[in-house]
Amino acid sequence: MVSIIVHGGAGTFRNEERIPKVIAGVREAVLAGWRELKRGSALDAVEEAVKALEDNPLFNAGTGSVLTLDGKVEMDAAIMRGKTLDAGAVAGIWGVKNPISVARKVMEKTDHVLLIGEGAVKFARLLGFGEYDPITEERLKQWGELRKKLIEKGETWHWKKLNELIKEYPEVLRSTVGAVAFDGEEVVAGTSTGGVFLKMFGRVGDTPIIGGGTYANEVAGASCTGLGEVAIKLALAKTATDFVGLGMDAQAASEAAISLATKYFGVDTMGIIMVDAKGNVGFAKNTKHMSYAFMKDGMEEPEAGV
Ligand code: GLY
Repeated sequence: MVSIIVHGGAGTFRNEERIPKVIAGVREAVLAGWRELKRGSALDAVEEAVKALEDNPLFNAGTGSVLTLDGKVEMDAAIMRGKTLDAGAVAGIWGVKNPISVARKVMEKTDHVLLIGEGAVKFARLLGFGEYDPITEERLKQWGELRKKLIEKGETWHWKKLNELIKEYPEVLRSTVGAVAFDGEEVVAGTSTGGVFLKMFGRVGDTPIIGGGTYANEVAGASCTGLGEVAIKLALAKTATDFVGLGMDAQAASEAAISLATKYFGVDTMGIIMVDAKGNVGFAKNTKHMSYAFMKDGMEEPEAGV
């Protein structure tokens, strides 16, 4: 049984007109991954699916990444192979089109796991990744509006108020894309994000933290979405795969992981997708929405929703 699941981020769509477009985006991404999976590689499937989401400006990763407090893009991405525990990640990278592909190169071409900021950009250029500006007009406009709201609250810089802002303006939590696939031999997980809108310069979320937002081993793989600090504190992607190690399937493990996030940090914080090494897919969230799509052997068309 081979399978792949993708997500386009957990959060709340205040403008529900966006939902059909987002569902079309995750469907397109899962089909891009499925094509590679049918050729035999979960690694290529995850990279291609995440690239499709990074290239779609609707999603907060690659093109369409959200902006930091000071109006810049600092993207995070990671990829991990379950069979070998090989992993590669970049954090706070800018000026590239597909951070997931740079993360894969970190995994394949270096002895390291995580490159950050200037070093990650330098590495990308050495590997031939061209300069690219992922900032879109829509994100610039949203950034201006959110900054204004922050200033109206009497703050120019928030140091501890992001959680409050998210409750008031749920579009801040427009987070992250990811894919997890099983090719019959191994599970691979990948995640990519622009992070959280108005995040502090230099802030790194869960996405590139192996075990936090992204993890794969011999029993399962997981990709998280939501408020990164929550997934980091709970080592959520690794915890979710441990649940599979204890006997749960991907769906039960996803639900258990999200229950844990809700127990410690409340609702509107987290979403997760998983695949286990039997090819079962799982997904769960404690937010109003999380776009997802999956394909398994025997399915003619992806199942997709929010
Ligand atoms: N989950 C993405 C982030 O918090 O950066």
